[in-house]
Amino acid sequence: MSDITAARDAALADIARATSPDEVAEMTTRFAGKKGELAGLKKRLGSLDTIDEKKVAGAAINEAMSAVDAALDERRAAVAADAMRQQVENERLDLTEYVGKPARGHAHLVTQAWERLEDVFVGLGFRVAEGPEVETDWHNFEALNMGEGHPARGEFDTLFVDHVPPGGRPGTTVLRTHTSPVQIRTMLTEEPPIYVIAPGRVFRRDTPDATHMPVFHQIEGLVVDRDISMADLAGTIDAFTKAFFGKGWNSRLRPSYFPFTEPSAEFDIQRPDGSWIELGGCGMVHPNVLTAGGLDPEEWSGFAFGFGIDRMAIMRHGVADIREMFSDDLRFAEQF
Ligand code: DAH
Repeated sequence: MSDITAARDAALADIARATSPDEVAEMTTRFAGKKGELAGLKKRLGSLDTIDEKKVAGAAINEAMSAVDAALDERRAAVAADAMRQQVENERLDLTEYVGKPARGHAHLVTQAWERLEDVFVGLGFRVAEGPEVETDWHNFEALNMGEGHPARGEFDTLFVDHVPPGGRPGTTVLRTHTSPVQIRTMLTEEPPIYVIAPGRVFRRDTPDATHMPVFHQIEGLVVDRDISMADLAGTIDAFTKAFFGKGWNSRLRPSYFPFTEPSAEFDIQRPDGSWIELGGCGMVHPNVLTAGGLDPEEWSGFAFGFGIDRMAIMRHGVADIREMFSDDLRFAEQF
């Protein structure tokens, strides 16, 4: 009986110290297996003298084996839970590496100007329209009164896309050189009255320098309604100038030429100190353009304007070289 108790207690003490699934497995063989210590004691039952002694000792061995089995089960579960906890801990991603205050960024200067322009024009009653950056030469030129061979096409330094539309001709897919094709797309899909602006990215085959980038941004404006006159255009430009730049700023129109407007003008803005800055082009939508947009020029009239967004950002922040704005250099960005 004392051998049984000693074997049981030794086994229970060892089991309580097991720390890994492997150890528990090894102890299961050692203590509960057919060749285990308690199983060995069972074989010695035959050497006992009386049936009663055998019964008592046999029952004690069975009890000890049950206790060992229970202890092994319990330990196995505890060790497995520990192992799982350990694995989860090991695989945990430590996301607390950057301590202190995270650096606060800001929207790109062009994005800021773009969004402010949208805010101001939406405040004046305009809606924001969109068009694709990859365009057909029909939308980009033809419909804007610049037929094939029109000299103005040459001024645009167009980038062509190596794509032939189904049933189309090679060399007729372009990266839009201006936001003006959105005028055409809007007229073709919407009924007047139309009061839209179309900010967006445009592309020209230009070598980057301090004032030019091959990818830049424009905002287009288009109004089509009944009895729209040049006075509506001038008034809108002036209302915009004061809303965007401030009360002390003025605007003026200067005669100019664009194929898609007639008459055409360039518009300048005047700083409170009296100096003038050229901002963009504008004019009354040419009858051919209204017709290309599916509208009757006898019934509808309108005005359009367009100017660069990047220049607005540069002017606002006093940036000397436009290339810096697109340099991804944090030392530049952090100044604003
Ligand atoms: N599309 C012209 C350009 O990129 C700018 C422009 C001029 C747009 C006159 C207009 C306009 O809508 O009426 O140079």
